[in-house]
Amino acid sequence: MSTQLIRPARSLQGSLTVPGDKSISHRYAMLAGLAEGTTRLANFSTGADPHSSLACMEALGAKALHNTDGTIEITGVSGSFRQPAAPLGCGNSGSTMRMLSGLIASHPHTFTLIGDPSLTLRPMDRIRNPLIQMEAKIDLTDGHAPITIHGTPLRAIDFTTPIPSAQVKTAVLFAGLQAEGTTSLSESILTRDHTEHALLAFGATLTRTYARVPNQPARLSIPGGQKLKAIDATVPGDISSAAFFLCAALLFPDSNLVLDSLGMNPTRAALLDVITALGGKIKVLAVEERHGELIGTIQINSAPANRAPAAATTPFLIEGPLTAQLIDELPVLAAIAPFTANGLILRDAQELRVKESDRIALVAKNLRAMGARFTENPDGLEIPGNQTLHGASIDSGSDHRVAMAFAIAALRATGDSEILGAEAAAISFPEFFTSLDLLALR
Ligand code: S3P
Repeated sequence: MSTQLIRPARSLQGSLTVPGDKSISHRYAMLAGLAEGTTRLANFSTGADPHSSLACMEALGAKALHNTDGTIEITGVSGSFRQPAAPLGCGNSGSTMRMLSGLIASHPHTFTLIGDPSLTLRPMDRIRNPLIQMEAKIDLTDGHAPITIHGTPLRAIDFTTPIPSAQVKTAVLFAGLQAEGTTSLSESILTRDHTEHALLAFGATLTRTYARVPNQPARLSIPGGQKLKAIDATVPGDISSAAFFLCAALLFPDSNLVLDSLGMNPTRAALLDVITALGGKIKVLAVEERHGELIGTIQINSAPANRAPAAATTPFLIEGPLTAQLIDELPVLAAIAPFTANGLILRDAQELRVKESDRIALVAKNLRAMGARFTENPDGLEIPGNQTLHGASIDSGSDHRVAMAFAIAALRATGDSEILGAEAAAISFPEFFTSLDLLALR
């Protein structure tokens, strides 16, 4: 286990290109693995999680070539996965395990999916339920991994997602793509739509009807029996990785940060509105669309100390659909909340308790270690603003986002902090601590 020392900083300055988006990298790897032809991907995530998806694709018969220019070429199996020789290792990655289950459930082999101790604790009945409705044969171990799938032909269903989860949506759409009949799926809280864009990019037919009336679900339909064609694509930078630096910029007067090649998909970009509401000034310097995904360059400035905006005096409230949209950014928002003018109230975030760790409990433990005042609730946290925190020994709990979130909070602490289990950052952002050193002025 590695420990990382974090010294307080006085500003954040410079420019940064974050690694390719983790969510999109998973989807491109899986669809490229299934497709016919060779997909060329630039800026594939450097995080360990999407590489678990890639390794599973290789075990299922796809070929992956890592070029010296950093691009990855994936030659797919043209619709027919082979029997893997060993269990499919999903590592720490819930996305790999859940989405892959949908992708392989109709292939005529027996698959075992395994994960690390954290992944083995995470609920898997959320994908088993719709997949068994599709007639998949899928066994869990007490609701968890290891998962065993006996591949069998699937039939289409009409499914309403009981919890907002892009991973569950994706498992159903990936299974529906290869089922008999047209699968429909409704979600009343819109989750990230990378799967929809990726399927269309790989040549699939998919129809989407967005709610015109508030509180009406969005509906997706995907005909089964479809074949995919390889693509050439560049993965946009990961906004959930950029979130750490956007939040760091908020902590200091006169910060100035430029982020380029950044994914700005509207279903992921709610963070930019939150940063603005918390006093950051964001300028979009460029934006373009590739394979349905928005990629842009943004600049963030925090207001100089003597020209801070006359902000609201009530805590910033994150609840309902906004909680779902910010799900991966909540740890860092909670970690910096004590330094904001008015604090943060987070509600409806019980899903955080079944992520890579119980993120509510672990954030609470580390806020406590830094001397913060706050209240922990079953579904969130209430964190007053305008606090002074001291440096502390931070427990990452082997959770990448918690390790990075508290490295950011530690920049504003009085005194040094150490992040125990800092190596967890490599799950999504191996370059995090090097980038932090370059951008944080001491
Ligand atoms: C993801 C969806 C979210 C998110 C995870 C990645 C995805 O999980 O927290 O990091 O790529 O679809 P849920 O689907 O469990 O909400």
